[in-house]
Amino acid sequence: MDTKESSMEQPEILIIDLGSQYTLVIGRTIRELGYRTIIVSPPRARTLLKTCKPKVIILSGGSASVYEQDAPQPPEEILTLGIPILGICYGMQWLAFKLGGRVTPSREHKEYGETFVRFEVQDLIFKKMAQEGTVWASHGDSVAELPPGFRPIAWSNKGKIIAGMVSYKRKIWGLQFHPEVTHTAGGKSILERFLQKAGSCSKNWQPADVIEEIRAELRQAVIGHDGQAKKAILGFSGGVDSTTLATIAQPIFSSNLLAICINAGNLRQNELEQIRANARSAGVQLKVVNAAKRFTKALSKATHSEHKRRIFRRLYKKILEQEAKKFSAEFIIQGSLATDIIESGAAGESALIKSHHNIGLNFSIQELHPLRRLFKYEIRDLARQLGLPAAVSERQPFPGPGLFVRIVGKPVTAKRLAIVRWADNIVTEILKQFNIYDQISQLVVALECNRTVGIKGDGRSYGYTIMVRGVLTADFMTVRGFQIPEHVRREITSAVTKHPQIVRVHYDETNKPPATTEAE
Ligand code: XMP
Repeated sequence: MDTKESSMEQPEILIIDLGSQYTLVIGRTIRELGYRTIIVSPPRARTLLKTCKPKVIILSGGSASVYEQDAPQPPEEILTLGIPILGICYGMQWLAFKLGGRVTPSREHKEYGETFVRFEVQDLIFKKMAQEGTVWASHGDSVAELPPGFRPIAWSNKGKIIAGMVSYKRKIWGLQFHPEVTHTAGGKSILERFLQKAGSCSKNWQPADVIEEIRAELRQAVIGHDGQAKKAILGFSGGVDSTTLATIAQPIFSSNLLAICINAGNLRQNELEQIRANARSAGVQLKVVNAAKRFTKALSKATHSEHKRRIFRRLYKKILEQEAKKFSAEFIIQGSLATDIIESGAAGESALIKSHHNIGLNFSIQELHPLRRLFKYEIRDLARQLGLPAAVSERQPFPGPGLFVRIVGKPVTAKRLAIVRWADNIVTEILKQFNIYDQISQLVVALECNRTVGIKGDGRSYGYTIMVRGVLTADFMTVRGFQIPEHVRREITSAVTKHPQIVRVHYDETNKPPATTEAE
């Protein structure tokens, strides 16, 4: 377990997300090749590099131009660490620009989609490839002049565009196209050669092994002298993390595991049915605790989001402890992930604490967080490996306090909950109808509570505003606001304003930062 733990905590392959829609695809392709990798935003990379030395760094693409004022900036120290770097698309442009080359926003040389490329097949990362091939490109800017010490290793647009560059001295490669997408012939081989030949990375991602490691750790903690697992409850939201964890843990505990879902009255429409279905997929026995009235009462005076979160956490803890007692459980198992350990830049259990509804609660019985070293996209891999349905493995995240933090700036009431739940359902259905729901990382539908003026029937009426926000992200540390197409927005606005108390719909396309994902 120890040697594996170090590979879990010291990732060899660091992907810095510079805003590309393909960043997650880079991670997934690399894991398909059998390597563990983590994806981080530039600020988080800066923190992480203080305590961890990866074997390679990959800079993703991104939609910005290096000349834009707020273009994503990887930490500049990566250029002097001597670690092999692969920059993809914007990542290559950033490298070229920072190292003294020239990037042009050339109109004639834009490339979108399938692009024909000639390779220098002697190069380390292209060896054994055909001399020419079709790749996937998506860029407006391109590198017009290479930085000193670099040479071209691939060309597109009849030799007019530099599609690849290298400096062996600096151990830096750049590719203007996307090796991670399946449309790029030989793309996987390029990535694998970079990881193996340039980085000597070790193959250490086998979802089945990870599942076994987690089970071994759980067994060590919960199996008593009689060879039986002691009793445990598992905080179950029906999301990808808790469902995957339940599936992993169930064979160890059998009837000594009880999944607890606290229905705080904060769930979306039909969500309880989905939660029950996910518990069935996990094969775990589920108890739903109906606590809607208790939560609504406790929250009846809270207007501030953090106040709502504090009340939520307190009651959540209290109810879980009561349930643990009723079940005579000796353990509480939670599906918390690694995100915050990395963010804090520290290893060890103390770094698990964050202001999240189920972390740092200091339960009176022992807490176990078996997924604490893993990231959301890895949990999705485990879920797929476990054969869980897409309704689990691809499920969008939803905040623990749920719809309570979707009532912006006013206390929670049953009426406000009903309105936001109704609107969320309508927007979700429309986005599914237009095949948009699965393209976004998370949908946020919130009730803005300063009532504004509108016209309903023949009269002036005051009503609520609904905020609709789709976001794209790898890790939720930074997000890009998704632009919902105009015809879909029209459909949503028309449907949502049919509610007698809703007079407006706002679309929020702001990035994080400066906004956050949730509206409060
Ligand atoms: P923000 O709004 O911080 O959200 O950009 C990032 C991600 O975290 C979710 N979120 C929460 N999850 N308890 C949770 O369990 C919370 O209090 C909470 N607040 C935000 C949010 O939905 C997004 O996925």
